[in-house]
Amino acid sequence: MTPSTTITTTTTFFLFLIYFTTATSSSSTTLDPNQLKALQYLHISTTHDPCTLSTCDTATPFRHLTALRLTDCTADHRLSTAVLTALSTITTLTFYNCHIPVVHFPTILTTNLHSLTSINSLQRLTGVFLSRFHNLTHLYISGDPIKASGIHIITSNMKSLKSVTLSNAHLTGYLPKDWNPKLTYIDFSRNKLKGTIPTSLTLLKSLKVLNFSSNNLNGVIPNSFGDLISLENLSLSSNSITGPIPGSMSNIPGLVHLDLGSNQLNGVIPEFISEMRELKYLNLENNKFHGVLPFNESFIKSLEVFKINGNVDLCYKSSVFSKDIKFGIPPCDKHGMPILPPPATHEPSSLAGDDGGSNGDNGGGYGDDNLEKKSQVNDYRGPSKVALGVSIGLSSMVFLVIFSVLLFKC
Ligand SMILES: *[C@@H]1O[C@H](CO)[C@@H](O)[C@H](O)[C@H]1NC(C)=O
Ligand SMILES: *[C@@H]1O[C@H](CO)[C@@H](O)[C@H](O)[C@H]1NC(C)=O
Ligand SMILES: *[C@@H]1O[C@H](CO)[C@@H](O)[C@H](O)[C@H]1NC(C)=O
Ligand SMILES: *[C@@H]1O[C@H](CO)[C@@H](O)[C@H](O)[C@H]1NC(C)=O
Repeated sequence: MTPSTTITTTTTFFLFLIYFTTATSSSSTTLDPNQLKALQYLHISTTHDPCTLSTCDTATPFRHLTALRLTDCTADHRLSTAVLTALSTITTLTFYNCHIPVVHFPTILTTNLHSLTSINSLQRLTGVFLSRFHNLTHLYISGDPIKASGIHIITSNMKSLKSVTLSNAHLTGYLPKDWNPKLTYIDFSRNKLKGTIPTSLTLLKSLKVLNFSSNNLNGVIPNSFGDLISLENLSLSSNSITGPIPGSMSNIPGLVHLDLGSNQLNGVIPEFISEMRELKYLNLENNKFHGVLPFNESFIKSLEVFKINGNVDLCYKSSVFSKDIKFGIPPCDKHGMPILPPPATHEPSSLAGDDGGSNGDNGGGYGDDNLEKKSQVNDYRGPSKVALGVSIGLSSMVFLVIFSVLLFKC
């Protein structure tokens, strides 16, 4: 193959180079012929200078690729170690909807890579395979099962790791005990991780996003959780976490997103939550909180999403809120205990029964209501389609009858 060979791309297999708006000098040199061949082997069209579509270094006489993105590949297009060796100058490698089995990555490439992303792509991933990428700062795997006996196998060698997503990857075992202090982003959502949240996690002073949602974690939230002073987005939702919300969390100044929904958390809801100035999303639903909701109306209205339903021993002070407010929890009596709803009123099903008119007015302005409404809209989509189908069917039958009567008469 000569560099000018154009490769026809099959309809099922497209490979795109990351497009970066880098200021490439007009007198840019051409790509290394070996890399050009490797791209052609991967069915990437090289009729245009790949360095105008992707990032390349500025070496002379030949430039080298530094980023590559492969999307929508199929199984008959395999990576080969030889191709990867030719492309070993790459530091950012992304696979998106590329269902291809992994091959041996040459050491030079595993050393050079700083960013590895695989979304619904690499097959037969193992912890040992991933652990070889020890210079990664950014690891993002989502939707690809990883065979590993624990997350520590994957990450313990990655001394520069700043951002790690291992989501929906069938991961089992416990959370790591040792964490890289540089971590700013951790997403281990939608796995089968078990055990407790290790106290060592709270040493991560730079951590901004922590997502452990939809696992099998249990135990309590560590008392030192408030040491995570940079935290902005936190989700521990859909686990089996018990105990109270630790008081130290009042030390986290910039919390924007707090999702503790669907756990076994108990105790009273701390008042300091309403003093979190940045908070936009608050989900405490489906837990075992009790006592009086310590929030006022202006705080709840300042949130985009607020969910509190499914806490059977929790109630709100009706004197503090306007009449039309609906939380999915009952009002309190004068002792601060939930008033059990009288059997004949609509109160108990307030959230479900509230789809009538309040959409968009002040009462419907809460995120909670909005979310409820969204899911109701989705729920109704099915039945209304059926109804539509039935009515179309009926009217065409009627039309057919009339038409054949007319035809018969003629
Ligand atoms: C990769 O890691 C090695 C040692 O593990 C280190 O010497 C080297 O500088 C790193 N390379 C880059 C490009 O970060
Ligand atoms: C956590 O992960 C789940 C599922 O992957 C996602 O829906 C949710 O938005 C994430 N939450 C945060 C705070 O990042
Ligand atoms: C953090 O949460 C906010 C509010 O829910 C959301 O808009 C934002 O996208 C989240 N950021 C990250 C990085 O997950
Ligand atoms: C509502 O609660 C917030 C936070 O506790 C407080 O700053 C604010 O003054 C209260 N507003 C009213 C109207 O009571």
